Formats: sequence, structure tokens, C-alpha cells
Amino acid sequence: MEHSDKPLVVVGSVLVALILIVGFNSFIDIKDKQHKGQPEAGYTLEKKEAAAASAPATGDAPATGDAAAGPAAEPAPGGSVDVAALVAAGDVAKGKKRFARCVSCHSYKKGDPSKSGPNLYGLVGRDVASLPDYAEKYSAAMKAKGGQWTLEELSAFITSPKKAVPGTGMIFPGLKKEPQRANLLAYIKTLSD
Ligand code: HEC
Repeated sequence: MEHSDKPLVVVGSVLVALILIVGFNSFIDIKDKQHKGQPEAGYTLEKKEAAAASAPATGDAPATGDAAAGPAAEPAPGGSVDVAALVAAGDVAKGKKRFARCVSCHSYKKGDPSKSGPNLYGLVGRDVASLPDYAEKYSAAMKAKGGQWTLEELSAFITSPKKAVPGTGMIFPGLKKEPQRANLLAYIKTLSD
């Protein structure tokens, strides 16, 4: 009996050994795969971080939101950009945040006195340099401009105040990015009756 049992024991332990080896190998395999996966995950993270880091450097909001007006940015048939369409597609909430750059000089609530710049309530469609409580303070350049603050005029002025109205008293570098201006104007449009 003892004699005939031995081969079985041997076979048994060989099997156990095999299972252990196979098991161990696939364990190593799994570890290996996890390892190979890692650099890639780290890479995508780096890329995202790099993108996030470069965004504030340009003074830009993350591309996702401000680019919302994307398709509308196509030049209008006349060759110029259709500002009204851009503004219509603008993001009011984002524009409101952007407007924070204006409030140091501009009040914007109905009836509030003007600050160092004229109150901007009811701005869209208003005659240029027409606010009574600011009449004495408008620059000669602004008074000479004439016309109304249409969305197009506002867009040009905000892009570069000193180019649109040479000699203006408004010291503001300008907001060059189209989607940001569209968002800002979408918000400014809401400041009216
Ligand atoms: C540093 C102060 C300052 C900042 C910041 C500023 N403005 Fe002005 N703004 C002025 C002054 C001063 C005037 C009057 C300019 C003139 O008479 O030439 C003015 C005039 C204007 C006018 C003409 C209004 C009218 O009654 O004809 C508009 C429109 C305007 N600003 C929009 C803006 C917007 C939008 C922003 C933010 C993106 C902004 N401004 C930021 C100071 C400022």
C-alpha cells in the first residue's frame, strides 16, 4: 500500500508546484501590467496639468467654457465678425465674472452715481458720452466720438479703448479675446430695464 501511494503523492506535489508556479507567474504578469499602465496615466495627468497651467498664463479662462461661442465665431458674410450672434451665444455667468475688471471704475446698478468712470447701466444702445452725471468728466475724445454704444462699437472699444477712441480717459489694456468679450457683452446687455 505504502509503495503504490508514493507516485500519487509525487504527482500531487508536482501539481501543487505547477499551480503555484502558474499562479505566481500570472501574479507577476498582473503586477507587470499595472506597472506598464502607470507611466501613461502619469503622462495624461501631466498633460492636463500643463494645459491648466498655461491657461491662466494667457489671462484666459479654461478653454472649455469661453470657447462655447466657437461655431458662431465664423466671419459673417460681409467679412466682419457678427458680434450680435457672438454675444447671443455668450455665457452671461462667465461674462459677469469678467465684468469684475470693470467695477473698480464703473458702477452698474440703475441710478447709482458714476464712479471714476460712467455708470454702465443701460449701456447697450445708449448714446456715447451721454450720461448726465458724468457730462463734465467725459474726455474730449469721447464727446467727439458720437453715435451709440451698439454691440459692435462696444466690442471694438473693449478690445482696445485707446485704439477705438484715441485720447480716451479710460485706462484699460483691452480684452483681446473674442469669446471673453462676447461673454462680457452678454452680461452687460442684461444691465438694462
Ligand atoms: C481704470 C478705470 C476703468 C476701468 C478698469 C474700466 N473703465 Fe470704462 N471708463 C473709464 C473712464 C474714466 C471712462 C470715461 C472715458 C472717457 O471719457 O474718455 C470710461 C468709459 C467707458 C465707456 C463709455 C461710456 C459712456 O457713457 O459713453 C464704456 C462703454 C466703458 N467705459 C466700458 C468699460 C468696460 C466694459 C470695462 C471692463 C472691461 C471698463 N470700462 C473698465 C474707466 C475705466
